[in-house]
Amino acid sequence: MSSSNALDPQSPLARAIYDLGIVSGIILALIFVIVTGGVVYAIFHFRARAGEPDPNQIAGNRKVEVTWTVIPFLIVVLLFALTLPAMNRADPPPPPSADVVVTGHQFWWQADYPASGVTTANEIHIPAGKPLSVRLESKDVLHEFWVPKLTRKMTNVPGQPNHIWLQADKPGTYIGQCSEFCGTQHAWMRIVVVAEEPTQFEQWQQTQLRPAQAPTSSATTKGLELFRTSTCINCHAINGVPGANSRVAPDLTHVASRRQLGAGILENTPSNMRAWLKSPQHIKPGALMPDYSLTDEQLDQLSEYLSTLR
Ligand code: CUA
Repeated sequence: MSSSNALDPQSPLARAIYDLGIVSGIILALIFVIVTGGVVYAIFHFRARAGEPDPNQIAGNRKVEVTWTVIPFLIVVLLFALTLPAMNRADPPPPPSADVVVTGHQFWWQADYPASGVTTANEIHIPAGKPLSVRLESKDVLHEFWVPKLTRKMTNVPGQPNHIWLQADKPGTYIGQCSEFCGTQHAWMRIVVVAEEPTQFEQWQQTQLRPAQAPTSSATTKGLELFRTSTCINCHAINGVPGANSRVAPDLTHVASRRQLGAGILENTPSNMRAWLKSPQHIKPGALMPDYSLTDEQLDQLSEYLSTLR
């Protein structure tokens, strides 16, 4: 799994921010060296020595004051002049409609693709090399969407959509993280961005649009029955299962195709799925999914069923 290093930009958007950071850093480092060097030099070179008279007092020297006012002013103007084009590159104006709508929830991400109708959670697929416009929303509190290698960070505000662009130079997996404290499981609110070749991305969309795989064994049939008759169905949607269309919790239609469970806290394997269903509150205390005290047999059936939803 790829890291989330902000110093390793992988898109024109992130590179604009990185380049500005480096140039500003160099300018600031030069100022630090010149000012600190001057102070150290003055401390040693102009140290008071026994028997020497007081030096001339030159308070109010106009030339000196104009100089130390004009130079910082020019530095600020320079930084401003560098920042404007960087802002333009990192954050061009939004188009009227978004390619992806990313909604923050305590403590997971919902991703909807309005043009195709795909809806998924905690994993965004994008075509590599193409900028996607992303609208950021929130269902509850402030969250903040941040995929450091790919784009700037931006807050998800309830009732006040924000906008960013998302782009990756080349195919790969990029980790993002909620970066605004939003509750007990803020730290486990990760998002995976999977950049793919355009044809692969198209394929992914087609797969995601299909209704869920129907159960083919008696265990998975019982698993689906359990999903429908217990409280799962109150919060989770599964496309193709009658009545399962709640949007409170992640859509499970293709849950087994995703890389992680619980917004990053577990790798998505059948045994982790079972462990998660057994005691989500042990794995992710404070998550909104409660423990249900399912029997071992029920856990087998439900996790087996969900693991077929690819
Ligand atoms: Cu969501 Cu922090």
